[in-house]
Amino acid sequence: MPKMVISDVPDEEYEGRRVFVRVDFNVPIRDGVISEDYRIRRAIPTIDYLIDKGARIILASHLGRPKGIFIPDLSLKPVSYRLSELLGKPVKFIGKVIGNEVKLEIEELQNGEVMLLENLRFHKEETDNDPNFAKELASLADIYVNDAFGTSHRKHASTYGMAFYFNLRLAGFLLNRELKFLTRIRENPEHPFVVIVGGAKIKDKIHALKNLLEKADKVLIGGGVAYTFLKAKGVGVGDSLTEDEMIGWAEEALKNYGDKILLPVDHVVAESIEKRKTYMIVDEEIPAGFKGFDIGPKTVRKYTSEIKGMGSIFWNGPMGVFEIEEFSVGTTHIARAIALATWRGATTVVGGGETISAIRKAEVLDSEIVHISTGGGALLEFLGGEELPGISILNDKVA
Ligand code: 3PG
Repeated sequence: MPKMVISDVPDEEYEGRRVFVRVDFNVPIRDGVISEDYRIRRAIPTIDYLIDKGARIILASHLGRPKGIFIPDLSLKPVSYRLSELLGKPVKFIGKVIGNEVKLEIEELQNGEVMLLENLRFHKEETDNDPNFAKELASLADIYVNDAFGTSHRKHASTYGMAFYFNLRLAGFLLNRELKFLTRIRENPEHPFVVIVGGAKIKDKIHALKNLLEKADKVLIGGGVAYTFLKAKGVGVGDSLTEDEMIGWAEEALKNYGDKILLPVDHVVAESIEKRKTYMIVDEEIPAGFKGFDIGPKTVRKYTSEIKGMGSIFWNGPMGVFEIEEFSVGTTHIARAIALATWRGATTVVGGGETISAIRKAEVLDSEIVHISTGGGALLEFLGGEELPGISILNDKVA
């Protein structure tokens, strides 16, 4: 059922009202410097819209997993500075989440002003979905907006519990866009539909993989996931890391979908990451004593020729240890092939934390991909067919 979006509500609803927006500003920060601000930038359209309508905007997010303890390095203060730069206006940072001081600051908030609360997870009641904490959060605002797609799979106080106190529980523009593209991929992808799956583990993506295997015309496998599939097929993978508990599942998948699953035919191997300078390229089998760290050039050619179609493409997970120069070539070529497919007219959707870093490394622009998801776990759960609590609690769109 489609959800009600902030633009579905008459403008008068917003003027002077306190709007609580759950965002996902869980971004990488080191020494106060944000290295990837994609999630912050994608929240701007919602915030801008609410500013324009004269709402008093209260933003809230988690950062990391502090488990109820105040950890200075996990403060959202650096995010408030970045957000202020992106919005081109001040963002009031409140070093707290609940309490009288927060309420007083909110009373002072003028129409069109923006405030960011401190990391919600400094209170363990957030992840516990504690009813009193949820009620306290809800008392801060008149309207609830979820624009945190990446956290929508969590049944926490700010993504779930507090929403029940509001009549208006709306989707922000980021969430709405995610639902539009990911629903299309999950339910009705344009064909030919090519899925590219990499990353470390099958286990994390098994439900999504099951669904995608049914829908896809071709599934190109790389990364750590490939070695488990190759082992299941009886191909020697040397000392490559495999998930042995998933071998049975991979065998079954190859039996049922063998005609659509493509596996690497050559590999970039080395004895270890430390010995990367002496890497080699091997065909088919990986010799004992060596580990696979990237797909080889023949596989790159084979895979990129599959990405040339005009239908839809979904990519999750790198093809190798792309952070390391020697093992980044496969991932870079896949990212660039997807960018070219966009240019040819395909609907290209990519997602998963590492995939965004891979796109950056390949120097592919955001505009060269139709949709880059902000979700990690949430994306996989959604594609696995699960109902996400943070989405289910939103108002249904009125026909
Ligand atoms: C993410 O980065 O996937 C989201 O922000 C959710 O974070 P979590 O896995 O710590 O709940």
